[in-house]
Amino acid sequence: MKLNLDIAVPSSQAWIDAVMADFDSFLQDHADCERKASAMAMSFVAKYPDRTEIIPELIETAVEELEHFQQVYKLMESKGIKLQHSIGEDLYVKALIKKCHSGRLERFMDRLLIASVLETRGAERFKMVADALEDQELREFYKMLWISEAKHGHIFVKMALQYFDEKIVYNRLAWWIEQESEAIQNLEIRPALH
Ligand SMILES: [Fe+2]
Ligand SMILES: [Fe+2]
Repeated sequence: MKLNLDIAVPSSQAWIDAVMADFDSFLQDHADCERKASAMAMSFVAKYPDRTEIIPELIETAVEELEHFQQVYKLMESKGIKLQHSIGEDLYVKALIKKCHSGRLERFMDRLLIASVLETRGAERFKMVADALEDQELREFYKMLWISEAKHGHIFVKMALQYFDEKIVYNRLAWWIEQESEAIQNLEIRPALH
């Protein structure tokens, strides 16, 4: 069942062109994003250990993201590409986190909804990458990732709906989609996931 909301602004041709022009750099950033996605799922477990209803799914999501990291890293190894030495600030994620409510309960909902929006954007971009690739094996890999991130986009909304009223969740999610549109359009075009 579809629980997330679609992103409002599609990724640009300029972005996919930048990715395809320097796929090695994209892979380096992509690997980092998967590792961070795993850490983000586990950070919910660390911050909200009393939310027992969602912990199994958070752990499962963290494991899936870590598997994605492992798969991207294997691909990098096969191409002789190393992980990035220093990890730059993710301005896109930072711009969104900055807009979170400060109250503990509202912040919990906001972080779940941001996670959904990030996953939904990731899915949209992986689909674009899959469509642009010529190598059949790589295409299949990015298609698999697209489906997986789209599923994560739903899961985080499902988690929010466990604790908050549906109307409140969707009003706020629609607001986050607007914020995300602004954040993604403010980004410099680079061969990176965002
Ligand atoms: Fe992932
Ligand atoms: Fe994901």
